[in-house]
Amino acid sequence: MLVTLREILCDAEKGGYAVPAFNVYNMETVMGVLHAAEATRSPVIMQIYSRLFDGENGKFAGANILAAAKYATVPVAFHLDHGATEAQVVGALEAGATGIMIDASKLEFDDNAALTKKVVALCKQAGNIAVEGELGHVGTTKEEIGDNYTEPDAARRFVEETGVEALAVAVGTAHGRYKKAPKLAIERIREIKEAAGVPLVLHGGSGVPDEEIRAAVKAGIRKMNFSTDLCYSFLDTVFATSREWVGIDLFMRDAVKAVETFALSKIAVLGSAGQAK
Ligand code: 13P
Repeated sequence: MLVTLREILCDAEKGGYAVPAFNVYNMETVMGVLHAAEATRSPVIMQIYSRLFDGENGKFAGANILAAAKYATVPVAFHLDHGATEAQVVGALEAGATGIMIDASKLEFDDNAALTKKVVALCKQAGNIAVEGELGHVGTTKEEIGDNYTEPDAARRFVEETGVEALAVAVGTAHGRYKKAPKLAIERIREIKEAAGVPLVLHGGSGVPDEEIRAAVKAGIRKMNFSTDLCYSFLDTVFATSREWVGIDLFMRDAVKAVETFALSKIAVLGSAGQAK
């Protein structure tokens, strides 16, 4: 069933687990993720990267999420990932998104808060949709990760000023493939959680060791994002699949299965299995 970001995170908060948020791109990635969620009775967030709303891809991928959610027996939320412009936010809302992220984390605090607050107001008007903001920029693995972590006090102020209902934080992760396994600032997660009082989001989930994920969830992470490794699981399988399979559904069968296997491995660590009502 289709649910809102607010509902799915509220349940995660009560249950003390994190909901997996998988970036999906097409029908096959949606299918793989949904199979894993159904098999484990896990709630799941399917999210679309903002770039896809600059063209038509977001509409098609969004329609696939909505179709999957309608058919699903577990809660499925449809989220915009890393919204950068108001146009992308509007595009995602028009496509039926039930959660929105606005990422202005490269800006100074006041500018980040101002843009985020504007998007919160827009989403309120568009059906009281909850917004995820980001404070403390989570970069890519191509850059030095560093220890410029989100400050708890700034996080509290940011939540108060903007009205975001979820907050992405910088605590040692980055987007992409890590050169060496990251070590997370677990105590900092606990402090931010205490100060901000909203569900925290961890970006850059691919390649984070299982024990780090478990500790992060215990400390207050309630949504964890995975994209890079989901893409590799899909693409590596596509490249290894025989061209003798001409029917595209048959050709894609193993790639869908690979996405399912990847999603299953993350659900097992986040503690979301069996949490679907
Ligand atoms: P990875 O691509 O590193 O898994 O990060 C995903 C993410 O945070 C999407 O917002």
